[in-house]
Amino acid sequence: MTPAPTAPPRIDLAALRRLKSEGRKSAWLTAYDYPTAALAEAAGVHGLLVGDSLATVLLGHPTTRTAPLDLMISLAEAVRRGAPHVFLVGDMPYEAVRGRGVDGAVRAARRFLEVAGCDAVKFEAAPGDEPLVGALTNAGIDTIAHLGLRPQEILSADGYRAQARDPSAVTALVGHARSMVNAGAAMLLLEAVPNEASSAVVAAVDVPVIGCGAGPACDGHILVTQDMLGLGAPRPPRFVPVMADLRRTIAGAMQRYVEDIVAGRYPGPQHVYHMRASAGEAPPS
Ligand code: KIV
Repeated sequence: MTPAPTAPPRIDLAALRRLKSEGRKSAWLTAYDYPTAALAEAAGVHGLLVGDSLATVLLGHPTTRTAPLDLMISLAEAVRRGAPHVFLVGDMPYEAVRGRGVDGAVRAARRFLEVAGCDAVKFEAAPGDEPLVGALTNAGIDTIAHLGLRPQEILSADGYRAQARDPSAVTALVGHARSMVNAGAAMLLLEAVPNEASSAVVAAVDVPVIGCGAGPACDGHILVTQDMLGLGAPRPPRFVPVMADLRRTIAGAMQRYVEDIVAGRYPGPQHVYHMRASAGEAPPS
């Protein structure tokens, strides 16, 4: 008898550490919904982030600051249903990190784990946020410190700029990375820094370092899925490899749908239900 196929193991922090120690890279994407999560898991993605980028990508807000915590928890639940085996990270929105104190942030992080089934949380860590990393870690919550470009600090769409582009800024970034890891960060995420900066960080810490526009030295790479699929900003950042042109595909399909209705081609005979044949009964007129 052929043995029943066994479910793939869930990717956990130990698996991500193992990949790093073997010099193998992990592939990450953002996801905010069930079908995207299921496609990403089937494609072999190791990690998914329910990013606060949903504020701009899904909700049309000008910045990520307004990402709503309750909505993010609900969407993280949907992502977990679609991708039960990936390493799932909930992104702590601005409202959860700033203005509720450390206890409020820990409570919000717990919701990502206990309600949505996330494996870890990420937050944009400013210098001085070590106590928050420590409190999350002490609460048993694996935490990813997001360094480099921190979009929650940027209040206009044209304010996005690469960071750590000179030696003193690289030194500061490495110090910041070390202090976050010393405070308990289980992983780091570096956004929009040169490869020289990410190489220096990777050499300075022993936790996995995921890059978003941070060059090949990182242990894994993440992109906003909509950018990668050609559904994001018309001119995505230079580090985004646009792998599909879904904007054009979707726009074309919608246009044909409208044209078919207007021209009377839809619904065609194949789209209509038929009455059940029953003896002697006339259909309602
Ligand atoms: O919110 C997000 O999508 C992110 C990625 C850009 C890393 O933080």
